[in-house]
Amino acid sequence: MLNDVVVAGFVLFFPNYSSFLSKPGFYIEDIFVREPYRRKGFGSMLLTAVAKQAVKMGYGRVEWVVLDWNVNAIKFYEQMGAQILQEWRVCRLTGDALEAFDQNESLKLLRMMFKRLKIASKVLREMISDLYDEIRERCVIQN
Ligand SMILES: CC(C)(COP(=O)(O)OP(=O)(O)OC[C@H]1O[C@@H](n2cnc3c(N)ncnc32)[C@H](O)[C@@H]1OP(=O)(O)O)[C@@H](O)C(=O)NCCC(=O)NCCS
Repeated sequence: MLNDVVVAGFVLFFPNYSSFLSKPGFYIEDIFVREPYRRKGFGSMLLTAVAKQAVKMGYGRVEWVVLDWNVNAIKFYEQMGAQILQEWRVCRLTGDALEAFDQNESLKLLRMMFKRLKIASKVLREMISDLYDEIRERCVIQN
């Protein structure tokens, strides 16, 4: 409750751009209606407001993602006329994988050198092993 106003839900969205359509669009990060207020038309109201704004601004599409187990949300979206695109996969860089991009150049260089050293030592080990086999073969022949 905020100044006698009850917040029943929210939709968080922001503009993005489709190079395929050559047009901007909206990306919905989250849509949420508090439990006691569900199935009363608030979700539809929120999604409709975003879609209407997109049309008004000449945008090409409104997009978002939904988890495959969230069957209620999927039913809601389908009822709103949205397509659920099965062939798209979400890619994410986060945690250590993301932080790795902040490593300084010398650390990156060190990692690269270490990688190359590992490869070189593997090749060297294989060469020594081949050489050892050859020497053994010659010793057997000579004996
Ligand atoms: C998904 C969500 C936003 C829907 O909000 P809502 O206010 O309940 O939706 P509406 O009342 O506008 O529903 C419109 C229609 O969608 C369909 N629908 C909505 N919820 C549904 C459910 N749980 N099961 C089946 N159909 C559903 C119905 O056809 C419904 O019309 P009806 O009530 O006349 O049958 C809400 O359930 C929610 O906040 N869920 C938790 C958060 C979440 O999962 N967000 C989506 C993240 S991707």
